[in-house]
Amino acid sequence: MARLMVRGFEIHKGALDPAAQRSLIEALRPVLRAAPLFSPAVPGGGQMSVRMTAAGAYGWFSDFAGYRYIAAHPSGKDWPAIPSQVLDIWAAHAGSDRMPECCLLNYYGEGARMGLHQDKDEADFSYPVVSISLGDDGLLRIGGATRKEKTESIWLNSGDVVVMGGEARLAYHGIDRIRFKSSRLLPKGGRINLTLRVVT
Ligand code: SIN
Ligand code: FE2
Repeated sequence: MARLMVRGFEIHKGALDPAAQRSLIEALRPVLRAAPLFSPAVPGGGQMSVRMTAAGAYGWFSDFAGYRYIAAHPSGKDWPAIPSQVLDIWAAHAGSDRMPECCLLNYYGEGARMGLHQDKDEADFSYPVVSISLGDDGLLRIGGATRKEKTESIWLNSGDVVVMGGEARLAYHGIDRIRFKSSRLLPKGGRINLTLRVVT
């Protein structure tokens, strides 16, 4: 396991071994059953290519009215609890006295991407964002505090954990593309990214 530092992004390559990755996928199955994936609308119009759901007290949501956290799945049901394995990963990497209130699950199917953005819908930026990659490789683009700063890119592989804290907490980032079916972790292919955040 190697640790890379790219402009404040702490990238723990291979933080989760294959057995831990498989057990995490098993733990996510009931989450996906209780809170099925949906395709958020983008405030400006259109739909995200990434499908999403969440676990925890809050889930992140987007529609014509904007980006925000909501206390229930769009179906009206409470979000399921964050699996304990996921909380263990937060505890190992976040260096935080609080546990995350949101575990956002992003699913990237073939051709899905996520544009450059900041994570800034939370109340307190002193807590980091911890991100876990599972399944297909994803090309992470890392920028700075403004959209104009130069960016650099790094491939994230299944089992990598990224911590965005300090100067990286409000840095622009996005996923340009995935290498569909580069991993066999998910039988149908694709990439799952979990992002853990303290929201309130
Ligand atoms: C995100 O920024 O919400 C997702 C990042 C990723 O998919 O690795
Ligand atoms: Fe993000």
